[in-house]
Amino acid sequence: MKTALLLGAGSSIAQAIARALAQQGYALQLAARDPSALEPFASDLKLKYTLPVTLHTLDARAYATHSEFYENLPVFPEVIICAVGYLGDQPFGEKNWAEVENIIECNYTGPVSLLNIAAEKMQLKKAGVIIGISSVAGERGRASNYLYGSAKAGFTAYLSGLRNRLYPLGIRVITLKPGFVYSKMTEHLTLPPRLTASPEQVAKAVIKNLSSGSEIIYVKPIWAIIMTIIRLIPEFIFKKLKL
Ligand SMILES: NC(=O)c1ccc[n+]([C@@H]2O[C@H](COP(=O)([O-])OP(=O)(O)OC[C@H]3O[C@@H](n4cnc5c(N)ncnc54)[C@H](OP(=O)(O)O)[C@@H]3O)[C@@H](O)[C@H]2O)c1
Repeated sequence: MKTALLLGAGSSIAQAIARALAQQGYALQLAARDPSALEPFASDLKLKYTLPVTLHTLDARAYATHSEFYENLPVFPEVIICAVGYLGDQPFGEKNWAEVENIIECNYTGPVSLLNIAAEKMQLKKAGVIIGISSVAGERGRASNYLYGSAKAGFTAYLSGLRNRLYPLGIRVITLKPGFVYSKMTEHLTLPPRLTASPEQVAKAVIKNLSSGSEIIYVKPIWAIIMTIIRLIPEFIFKKLKL
């Protein structure tokens, strides 16, 4: 039986992916800052799919604990999904360094620390799949969310480099850029329905591309078109736009 580890397992997207992986027969390791909050979810998965589901404590910002976190897992997983993230408050962050640190550490340095260790272990096994949830926000800095966007840009570049490094060993590194998703992170926002996916649609795209297929996933294909256009707008025009 294969095992999947979900980092940031309280995430709405992570939970939809966990459920989809359970349907595929994966044992699950769910890691979050407060794993006790995941007990009802884990019980439900165990009952429905009769699979091992274990809970683990993880703070992505507590770098010194990350090696021990992996050592304490019952088995090293075949698939690792990093869903840790923090949207933050852009206007607040412009005046508050602690907010900026939280945005950078949850979206970039924390995931990098966690996946660096995972990559070393997968390199020894010459097998595995790493999925990082980044964002289209990382493709071009916009006034409305460039703190989050720049951290995701760093994460996207990191995943690209990691894929480049691990590809010869047969290890897949998938960058998930889901576009807008209805989740806890966005529940305070009014999202355009045509551009917004459900966590279940994200999970479906992950399962479809898990062992073969695309390594850069835009859940709704329209996002790939939108971002191509956004990237092509010359800077002298882009700086005047309110996006
Ligand atoms: N929703 C969207 O529109 C959208 C679009 C593109 C990308 N994404 C990305 O998708 C991923 C999942 O987000 P979501 O939409 O499912 O929102 P979410 O439910 O808010 O998930 C974010 C998760 O990150 C966890 N987290 C934050 N700081 C952490 C830390 N220091 N250590 C460990 N875990 C931490 C949160 O844990 P707690 O449960 O403990 O708070 C939460 O479970 C994120 O990386 C997000 O940036 C989301």
